[in-house]
Amino acid sequence: MFFQKTILLIRNFTQVFMREIKKIAVMTSGGDSPGMNAAIRSVVRTCAFYKKECVGIYRGYQGLIEGDFIPLTARSVNNIINKGGTILKSARSKEFRTVEGRKKAYQNLTENNIDGLVVIGGDGTFTGGVVFNEEFNFPIIGIPGTIDNDIYGTSHTLGYDTALNTTVEAIDKIRDTASSHNRLFFVEVMGRDAGFIALNAGVGAGAEEILIPEEDLGLDRLLESLKKSKKAGKSSSIVVVAEGDKIGKNVFELADYVEENLPEYEVRVSVLGHMQRGGSPSCFDRVLASRLGVGAVELLLDGKTNLMVGLVNNEVKSTSLEKAIKGQHTINNELLRVSDIMTI
Ligand code: F6P
Repeated sequence: MFFQKTILLIRNFTQVFMREIKKIAVMTSGGDSPGMNAAIRSVVRTCAFYKKECVGIYRGYQGLIEGDFIPLTARSVNNIINKGGTILKSARSKEFRTVEGRKKAYQNLTENNIDGLVVIGGDGTFTGGVVFNEEFNFPIIGIPGTIDNDIYGTSHTLGYDTALNTTVEAIDKIRDTASSHNRLFFVEVMGRDAGFIALNAGVGAGAEEILIPEEDLGLDRLLESLKKSKKAGKSSSIVVVAEGDKIGKNVFELADYVEENLPEYEVRVSVLGHMQRGGSPSCFDRVLASRLGVGAVELLLDGKTNLMVGLVNNEVKSTSLEKAIKGQHTINNELLRVSDIMTI
């Protein structure tokens, strides 16, 4: 209680010198990811802790344009920390890309006396936030929520850890049937522009090869590697392919190509798809969501804007939204080497 009172005093003192934030809105936007609900819960409860009002916006920027709001109290977010998806729903809004759409959004925020906005999403969400902030100077803080982990300024985005576990579990099951039938499986995993899921789940599930957009393995090397593993006595194999891989063939074409060139293999394809985005968040994602929600609200209360909260060396740090979008979150090359060694 003493702790809470002291923090409130310090913040109220700081707020004398700037526009006071009394009401904060929170929304989820873009592809959903496990942990978004835990982040909503954290934002709402941090607002309650600081005696600020909180409003949820349904369906991301589209709901903002349509004024689809709901007041949220600490009790509105009971029993959601463990739930996948997002209670606020999500959308990719075309209308928000227009000036007209953004004007409507701004009007709705001001008419509802909202002073700050927390957006939970990925690069598309943050791009919208940056443009909106430039046009209307409206305080915005981002929380990185995407299974792709392709955001600069955080080692982990919300949902990535859960998606990794889901993916590894699925590949383990594919391995059972692959080994029973002595087959080669190409497993496509999500990751539009990034290979984080493919690389980490690939190593975790013991894949023979991992194809990611960041590294062009080339078709010849793939064939060589598969020939080598047959010779080494492996009867079944798993190749993990990131959705955004740039080898020049999609996963089905790749399977046909390998079957034509290496007739000793019987090949099957499994596209894991959206199941990777669902499910109850891992403990890691729940803790991360709770930390980032507190960080986001506190930044707004400190008069900050246009920032993203992320995890850097296991500490909550902020990065400009622009940098978060434009910066390159690079994959760990050591993992590629480890994968090569493991597939001897
Ligand atoms: O951005 C996350 C992501 O899951 C990508 O990995 C995938 O390419 C994309 O969303 C799919 O988007 P949608 O659900 O709109 O088909």
